[in-house]
Amino acid sequence: MSSDDLKILADEAASCTACVLAETRTNVVFGAGGSDADLMFIGEAPGRNEDLEGEPFVGAAGRLLDRLADEVGIARDDVYIANVLKCRPPGNRDPREEEITACKGYLAQQIKLIDPAVVMTLGNFASKLLLKTTTGITRLRGTAYPWWGRFVVPTFHPAAALRGGERVLNDMREDFALACRILDESPVDEPADPRSEHSEPTPQPTSLQETAQLEFFA
Ligand code: URA
Repeated sequence: MSSDDLKILADEAASCTACVLAETRTNVVFGAGGSDADLMFIGEAPGRNEDLEGEPFVGAAGRLLDRLADEVGIARDDVYIANVLKCRPPGNRDPREEEITACKGYLAQQIKLIDPAVVMTLGNFASKLLLKTTTGITRLRGTAYPWWGRFVVPTFHPAAALRGGERVLNDMREDFALACRILDESPVDEPADPRSEHSEPTPQPTSLQETAQLEFFA
């Protein structure tokens, strides 16, 4: 994929006013990493540090994420990192339904452009959005789910490991190892063919973002 397309999308997001978070954000935190990454992490929403710096996962949770990835031989440059929401909810409150709805076209388009073999969803919000489920992360994790020609591997949010200690951390280590096993086995440049898994007719989209959104999150 062309990194120009990602840049165009990032520029679009930078002036987004689709929800109330535009009024309180310092920066839009679009995403960061390799545009050809085979592994993508999806978190929840920027926190205070991320809002100030405009980069995802630069605080304590990010350092833990880097450490877990490093333990299985993955460097930050080898992954793409994004969030469900691109703007910080005030006081780090939970994302609201209408904010997720307003923002998910960006995420869908990022996934489509980067086309990773494995997506690790970090915590409840990302996992429930991609897997279209109300099941919580504790029950979802530990399994790789086939998803639009790739795999989703849900795991805890690193902030949960900062609070929850060694047990949560060990579960996350298992999930990272699972993601790595899939990456090691996955054929390079295998074309994703979502149509073979999802044969329902899709409504007519009006923009690139909406195209991806209708595919993944409709
Ligand atoms: N938590 C998230 O979910 N995303 C970030 O970018 C930082 C903290």
